[in-house]
Amino acid sequence: MEEIKTALAEADPFASWWPFVLAGIVFVVGTVRTFMGGQPCPNGNTIPDRVIVVTGACGGIGREVCRELARRKAHQLVLGCRSTEQGAALKELLRREAAECRVEVLPLDLRSFDSVRRFVRQVQASHRAVDALVNCAGVIFHPPERTPDGFEPHLQCNFLSHFLLTQLLRPNLARSPNGVGRVVNVSAHGYTAGKIANREDPLNLHLATPISGRDAFAHSKLAIVLASRILARKFAAGPQEDHSTGVTVNCCSPGLVRGTDHLRHSPIMKALFAKVLTYPWMWLFMKSPVQGAQTIVRLVTDPELAATSGEFFNDCERVELSEIAKDDELAERLYREAMKAVGLEEDAPKL
Ligand SMILES: NC(=O)c1ccc[n+]([C@@H]2O[C@H](COP(=O)([O-])OP(=O)(O)OC[C@H]3O[C@@H](n4cnc5c(N)ncnc54)[C@H](OP(=O)(O)O)[C@@H]3O)[C@@H](O)[C@H]2O)c1
Repeated sequence: MEEIKTALAEADPFASWWPFVLAGIVFVVGTVRTFMGGQPCPNGNTIPDRVIVVTGACGGIGREVCRELARRKAHQLVLGCRSTEQGAALKELLRREAAECRVEVLPLDLRSFDSVRRFVRQVQASHRAVDALVNCAGVIFHPPERTPDGFEPHLQCNFLSHFLLTQLLRPNLARSPNGVGRVVNVSAHGYTAGKIANREDPLNLHLATPISGRDAFAHSKLAIVLASRILARKFAAGPQEDHSTGVTVNCCSPGLVRGTDHLRHSPIMKALFAKVLTYPWMWLFMKSPVQGAQTIVRLVTDPELAATSGEFFNDCERVELSEIAKDDELAERLYREAMKAVGLEEDAPKL
């Protein structure tokens, strides 16, 4: 009897601090992960009849955006993919998950303006109206080289090619029969680190010294934000004479997202020891691709945002822009330089 009493006393959880320590760790880890995961998209409405074009559709975040839009009964997704095999695999996945959503895979290489123009011609051949364009593709730490069009790769892939794509698809977006057409540009928090050394050269085309991959990424994401504000203003003029509508243009940051290929070119992340060291922190502090997709999904689907344009969103909420991103004169100049760089006339193509 005495032995049983002793055993019971020893089994008392209050006799040891370990259960409390463990519970505390689980609570802190759970709270940090929930907080860092950001807000889910606040609306759950479906979007039947919508035609949505997505670049970077096969990437970690773009893929989750497509899956969610398909689940929300989008009528047609047009996936712009560099690898049509990856596109076909995603199409098959979407067919299994949301059979009623039609999916078309079209080749798109943002390193080439010719490829962008070919992509647009293919989209326009089958869709008179487009309801939303999600410019999600992006690169970081790209090796220093020139694209076939002669530009720094971050500048062309992240910004200039999406700028051209947006301008060329404007007539189709303006014909959206479901309210206004929407453009969602995926930028990054890192845009705040973007530098423009010379205001006469807002695209950093004539820098004296080569720019690092990280700085080129930040600059390209800043260029997206600056140009989006001008595009939002220029595209707002609706309803037009032919009853087409205006088009909204908003930017967002997906947050820091793990489990994607975004760091594929990062020299540090190629080392196994760096991966082993950083993965626990990434797991704790970074979003999953599904969480990273939430802000983009809200910007495409939320009826409350039908009249919102020229804004920056993070964690599904509008946030204030940095000072440089609010510089209207710089934004105008960058817009004009971008038009020249992509070979467009002063005004976007008319309907
Ligand atoms: N992950 C993050 O923490 C994070 C943070 C801030 C912003 N972002 C932004 O979020 C977006 C999605 O990133 P992610 O994390 O999903 O990265 P990801 O997995 O690397 O996806 C990027 C996508 O862009 C495509 N892409 C790259 N270069 C292209 C080109 N020349 N032509 C056509 N498509 C091209 C990739 O296609 P391929 O597979 O064929 O290369 C891929 O589908 C990017 O704009 C990124 O800058 C991400």
